[in-house]
Amino acid sequence: MNRFVSFFSAALILTLLSCNVVKNPRLTDNFNDGWKFHLGDTIDPQSPEFNDQSWRMLTLPHDWSIEGSFDKNSKAGYGGGYLNGGIGWYRKTFILDKNIYQDKDIFIDFDGVYCNSEVWINGHYLGKRPNGYISFQYELTKYLKLGKRNVIAVRVDNSHQPNSRWYSGCGIYRNVWLNAVSPVHFKQWGIGITTPKVTPQKATIKTQFQISLPGTDSSAVTIEAKLYDTEGKLVAQNGKVVSKDKKYNTTLELIAPHLWSTEDPYLYKLVSQLYVNKKLTDQVTTQVGVRYFNFDADNGFSLNGKPLKIVGVCNHHDLGCLGTAVNKRAIERQLEILKAMGCNGIRTSHNPPAPELLDLCDKMGFVVMDEAFDMWEKSKTTFDYSHEFKKWHTRDLQDQVLRDRNHPSVVVWSVGNEIPEQWRDSLNAGARIMKNLCSIVRSIDTTRPIVTANNEPNPKNAIINSGETDLIGINYHIENWLKFKQDYPGKKLIVTESTSALQTRGWYQMPSDSIARVPKRWDIPYSTPHHFCSAYDNCSAPWGSTHEETWKVVKANPYVSGMFVWTGFDYIGEPTPYTWPSRSSYFGIVDLAGFPKDVYYMYQSECTTKTVLHLFPHWNWKPGQTVDMWAYYNNADEVELFLNGRSLGRQHKVGDQLHVMWKVPFEAGTLRAISYKQGRQVASTEVKTAGIPNRIRLTADRRKITADGSDLSFVTIDIVDKDGNLVPDADNLVKFQLEGPGKIAGVDNGSPISMESFKADHRKAFNGKALCVVQSKKRSGIIRLTATSAGLATGIVEISSK
Ligand code: GAL
Repeated sequence: MNRFVSFFSAALILTLLSCNVVKNPRLTDNFNDGWKFHLGDTIDPQSPEFNDQSWRMLTLPHDWSIEGSFDKNSKAGYGGGYLNGGIGWYRKTFILDKNIYQDKDIFIDFDGVYCNSEVWINGHYLGKRPNGYISFQYELTKYLKLGKRNVIAVRVDNSHQPNSRWYSGCGIYRNVWLNAVSPVHFKQWGIGITTPKVTPQKATIKTQFQISLPGTDSSAVTIEAKLYDTEGKLVAQNGKVVSKDKKYNTTLELIAPHLWSTEDPYLYKLVSQLYVNKKLTDQVTTQVGVRYFNFDADNGFSLNGKPLKIVGVCNHHDLGCLGTAVNKRAIERQLEILKAMGCNGIRTSHNPPAPELLDLCDKMGFVVMDEAFDMWEKSKTTFDYSHEFKKWHTRDLQDQVLRDRNHPSVVVWSVGNEIPEQWRDSLNAGARIMKNLCSIVRSIDTTRPIVTANNEPNPKNAIINSGETDLIGINYHIENWLKFKQDYPGKKLIVTESTSALQTRGWYQMPSDSIARVPKRWDIPYSTPHHFCSAYDNCSAPWGSTHEETWKVVKANPYVSGMFVWTGFDYIGEPTPYTWPSRSSYFGIVDLAGFPKDVYYMYQSECTTKTVLHLFPHWNWKPGQTVDMWAYYNNADEVELFLNGRSLGRQHKVGDQLHVMWKVPFEAGTLRAISYKQGRQVASTEVKTAGIPNRIRLTADRRKITADGSDLSFVTIDIVDKDGNLVPDADNLVKFQLEGPGKIAGVDNGSPISMESFKADHRKAFNGKALCVVQSKKRSGIIRLTATSAGLATGIVEISSK
């Protein structure tokens, strides 16, 4: 066949195919653009006639608190990172094309608004949703005027403070969607997929559909479900559809399933189509991961029949300098950093997460403990969700389970963290509420165990005692993990929260082998002039333990299914052991800006196959000072340290040790470490005494981003000496200038005590480093970031946005 003929036939096939493709009648549009915002309450802004001309124009997601300044007297207090709450209004004026939207049911979907949101459309009140983390929907259809001006107004009330133990953010901080569907459609979260039987030969995929069917005879309805692999090949199709009470069930059989796992997170696509009298009326695509898992009293967790120790982290939802405003790339970057460390699990402490987090966990391979509440009826802070619990918990929990049930990453439901009703004085309440919550979850999903995260490890714990919990979740209390089998014969253990070690990146306190527990007790104030915590992994909260103390026990005991370290990333608020001017946490393995602390490499050496040799701290000390030099290493038998070419001897880990250490009298120059396996060099690394700050080095995590107005490039700023060595205590003020189609979305340096704004065009370095987050606009071009600082050579980086 000549080239022309082959081109012609390919074009013909394409044309024929496209004629065959029926357009999805469901329209889903991102509804983030073109909102007006006003901070503060005002009279009647829900009225369509209200004049919002003076209001600020913005694009969602938006967190207004992060734009404010730290305030010692903020009612949000220590927990909220001293950033203020308040009341805020959002309005959006929009027109819907009659030709497109006629005869459709139209819904607005909010992924999450913190908090107490109330919504009006064209002056009609749609409702209130107190919970700041739950996704919710309102139907707009009957109030809309197609082809004419419509106004949606949202009031957000986060003025009653404190209501959270961590930084919550304020506003419409997650995505908003407009969904338009035919009156006969799959209901919101109305498709439920399970994989009850999985063998290497075959997987059974059960699918349940809930349908909105106003006035239509159910016999006219047919459903088709088709499963496609990653290449787009059709690999399974539904069998007979059985219907009962507007619920439809069908089963697909998948031959030789490619299983989903943390190492190979393979996802199929299920395309569900709804027909009325053979006419397509709705179509929804769902990602499907085929996997099975088990928790075992003796052998812990297994995924697809293989033991898998859960090396998980707890995280709060803020994204550092971006605040809580959801950005998919920012979440993805956090997960990339955690994945490279060897982390394979996420606990959504202590609330329903952004949907994007779960999508990414599915895609990148993390198992998730999806958590609902930080309190039930008894409060933890004055104005928290306990006031709404009685009225709202059923709806909120149902919605969370319905929304999240199809994610293969989710393997545990947690219905509460350190719930005050666990204590024995609440015996009845603890059991009553637990029974009720479990029945809510089980009425929707029976494929995952339910747990609560308990800081009362005693078997008389009122919640555990209810007999409802599928796993025993213990927070901290290592001694209780060790005697778990006596305390809880035949039961399954998951360490729902561990560690709470405290570290400031790049700051070290010797002797490194003496462990500080600070504060003495949670309610005893503690302070130091510096407000830092040592990064040697020799400091923890008294209820916690160091990373090494914790991991040794989790690693050594197969019945411990795994743990969720408090925390993966530093977060805003809860600056234990300090208070003002500390305003963000010290718990992270990674700091608030996303720079790993040294202990990150302990996990990497233990939990990945990557060859690790990490030598620390820096090598800028006082002459004659004896310095503890630590190394984390793997894939080797021993490590030798050299000071200015002289060997200081070889060291190897003995017993369950996780690092080696030398005490070295400081002498300026180079420390070089070499690891060996059977006498052969495996890896080498060095730290050098840095000279004075000389120039700014910029490194973008991505030099190519998408021009979609939301993609990000995270640019690391290093203050280096003339030879390119990081200056470990540099705090130079760096100014940023941006040219091209981008903007600065935030700046940070990981310091827990910096009072600088996250939304500025400058930042001081902290221990040699800073971060500038560059965000694309909806326009292609080259974005050029220039960083200047008095007395230093300028740094420049170019990012292409397409
Ligand atoms: C736990 C609690 C977490 C966090 C942590 C700090 O008890 O569950 O939310 O406060 O302590 O160590």
